[in-house]
Amino acid sequence: MPPEELILSLLRLQKGYISEKNLANETGISISAIPKWINLLRKYGYDIESRHRRGYRLVGETDLPVPWELAKRLDTLFVGKDKIVYRLTTHSTQNLAILLAEKNPDSDGLVIIAEQQKSGRGRENREWLSPKGGVWLSVVLRPCMPASNITLLPFAAALALYDAIKKTTQLDAKLRWPNDVTISGKKVAGILIDGSVEAERINYAIIGIGVNANVDSSVISSHLEKSIKVTSLSDELGHETSILGLTKEILERLDYYYTQLEHRNPRTIIEEWKKKSDILGQKVALMQSNRTIQGIAADVKEDGSLVVRADNCEDINVVASDIYVTY
Ligand code: BTN
Repeated sequence: MPPEELILSLLRLQKGYISEKNLANETGISISAIPKWINLLRKYGYDIESRHRRGYRLVGETDLPVPWELAKRLDTLFVGKDKIVYRLTTHSTQNLAILLAEKNPDSDGLVIIAEQQKSGRGRENREWLSPKGGVWLSVVLRPCMPASNITLLPFAAALALYDAIKKTTQLDAKLRWPNDVTISGKKVAGILIDGSVEAERINYAIIGIGVNANVDSSVISSHLEKSIKVTSLSDELGHETSILGLTKEILERLDYYYTQLEHRNPRTIIEEWKKKSDILGQKVALMQSNRTIQGIAADVKEDGSLVVRADNCEDINVVASDIYVTY
């Protein structure tokens, strides 16, 4: 067991204070190193009181999805199964996940979570602001499915996010094509997929998930173009939500939809997605290169592409990578 977990288990066993000397004796960690591990536990969100001559006392549990807390709550077949990496700060969980996937063929199901990201990435190479209070994570998948199914992964991830947000907050979330989650028309979560395909086989795919959970959305908005409307779960609820609970739900629902995608009829993913989206029948504007096309969202096809019936009645098949849709 890592030192911080050892110390935590002793703090939990002790009703009152436990001295530095006893912590050192019980763990085999040197007495001078104890304050360092206590501070790390505090950074991981535990509330630990310290008293001169008496030692330390655990007064509050964490709500951060640190691996040992998440692992004991997580009920998945393989997403995050014994494979959770946690960082207080990283540049981008997505970049770290790519690095680990490249190095490690045994990384299927690996989850990387950060409390904050310094260079979070969004789609179309946009910056993704990731302060403390959000859910910022990436999942490495090595799916046994045709490379063409990779386009369905973001839809499976969006469904997982939708279910998790609904279950933990009861907010009226909606799915926006291609892979955003919105509340009252404002973006609350996004999905980014990176992948490596070799000879028609998916080598690995990384699903990056960002949820504005307990963040002040006005801070995020101030970094975005005025036309992009964002919100956060805490702004919608008027209070904070559990990051640990939300992360657990996201990973469990992702595990469920991913299994469905691998072993059952992938078409059900799109059918489910359509039920949870409000795009069909809406007026949409496509920004394609330097022209704007107006139309009605008519359908989402089996491969996840959007059919837009343009004002001149022509049907345009739109794939996520080459347009930006507003509605
Ligand atoms: C979007 O543009 O809507 C996608 C945003 C995806 C952000 C997440 S946060 C965790 C992961 N790491 C990143 O750098 N990006 C993704």
